[in-house]
Amino acid sequence: MNFKIKLGNLFKTKSECIVVGIYKKSEKSKDVELTPPANRINEASSGQIHQILARGDIDGSIGSTLLLYDIRGLSAKRILLVGMGIQNETTVQDFRKAAVAAVKVLVDRNLASADMAILDDIGDQDRVIFAQQIAEATHQVTYRYWETKSGEKPAMQLAQIGVFINRKYKDAVQKGIDQGLAIANALTYTKTLANLPGNICTPSYLADRARELAKSHGLKVSVLDEKDMEKHKMGSLLSVSRGSVEPAKLIVMEYKGAEKNKRPVALIGKGLTFDAGGISIKPASAMDEMKYDMCGGASVFGALIAASEMKLPLNIVGIVPSSENLPDGAANKPGDIVTSMLGKTIEILNTDAEGRLILCDAITYAKRYKPEVVVDIATLTGACIIALGHHASGLFSNSDELANELLVAGEAVDDRAWRMPVWESYTKQLKSNFADLANIGGRGAGAVTAACFLQEFAKDFSWAHLDVAGTAWSSGSPKGATGRPVPMLVEFLIRRSRS
Ligand code: BES
Ligand code: MN
Ligand code: ZN
Repeated sequence: MNFKIKLGNLFKTKSECIVVGIYKKSEKSKDVELTPPANRINEASSGQIHQILARGDIDGSIGSTLLLYDIRGLSAKRILLVGMGIQNETTVQDFRKAAVAAVKVLVDRNLASADMAILDDIGDQDRVIFAQQIAEATHQVTYRYWETKSGEKPAMQLAQIGVFINRKYKDAVQKGIDQGLAIANALTYTKTLANLPGNICTPSYLADRARELAKSHGLKVSVLDEKDMEKHKMGSLLSVSRGSVEPAKLIVMEYKGAEKNKRPVALIGKGLTFDAGGISIKPASAMDEMKYDMCGGASVFGALIAASEMKLPLNIVGIVPSSENLPDGAANKPGDIVTSMLGKTIEILNTDAEGRLILCDAITYAKRYKPEVVVDIATLTGACIIALGHHASGLFSNSDELANELLVAGEAVDDRAWRMPVWESYTKQLKSNFADLANIGGRGAGAVTAACFLQEFAKDFSWAHLDVAGTAWSSGSPKGATGRPVPMLVEFLIRRSRS
């Protein structure tokens, strides 16, 4: 998609469609008010917009739309009114919803181009982030997964969107669009990687994609194979992949945007390419969705793509431990005890709690990069979905400062997390009679005990863990990867690069 900033006269532009906002007057009323651009069009058409609105077909609620033709005195072929909610109350979430609704109409009408004049209507909120939402909304509407369908991917007509703004916002809006495009590219990459089936997207496949990114995005990539893992005594990670014929990979991708000696941000993503549960096998229903158990890893790929395309002045190391979790003669058995790279022994009481087993060795491996902070991202527990549903990712951290950075970043771009505790009293639930730690902590607080398990391996770090089990993909008919938490991670990185 091509975005072009436009500063000229709105009602003189020869456009396929001009998108302008209208407000809802109040919570209860059905009356609407015009935003400044809608008002200009109303004046140019001698009040035609007001006449149409009087018929009551649109109430200005967020994302409501009305497409108009033959507006007098305009060079544009169409006007699309889009509801922005109540004036001065438009949040990032509302704005994106409105932008998504608008782009949907443009795509449904098969328009090749359009112009938007909706960025004037947000009071004095951050134009960078709102402009970014236009690019992200466009991605959200136009993304199609087609990798494993036959025939040609349906062509998309919409190719250019003009963005009308007041001159004083030009730099901020350009920056937002550029960032939004980098995030859209990252989201496309992350979603497609996640949507690919387990028989294609294996640990080796992920490793190959990382090697590709070395060339296309200038990342420094290295891949540890199982022999290397043996050398590093990654007994926990190796135990998970032993039950599968696909060899495990530990993928390391480095982005260097700051001076050499600047300590990196480490992003560690669970890359479990298919989780059948192992010997503690999962029930059959919806098991296909366990191809998404690599979404944390996919979000690390995405974050590195966005960071490198934005040339963020930061150093980042992305680490993706990748394996399958299948039942097999060599698979982990309940009661088995393995020794992690850190030296801690782990009693595997449930082979389906495998994410923490591959992550703990990756966290230990991260030490060699002397990271300033470590953030791991994982579809770690069904219990997190019980706790938070599909709205917020679970956030766990041993650092209030790091936790707040992530919370604030997620809030800013409407990709939110909610913090949960990692108290010592929960860690006690992981006591084992036979090893240093058990890999499960009983029925209560499953998302918390999983995080506490990881925390045991992150004591040397300022560390945070994002459980994205409920947010990384949608089930049912809209089944598909969401790309979360790429927007949060990228905003977190952007803010870090500023300070
Ligand atoms: N990948 C799953 C977690 C998961 C389940 C994410 C469903 C999204 C939807 C993870 O490996 C797992 O199986 N966790 C177990 C842990 C339990 C055995 C303590 C779970 O959540 O049931
Ligand atoms: Mn599992
Ligand atoms: Zn899993």
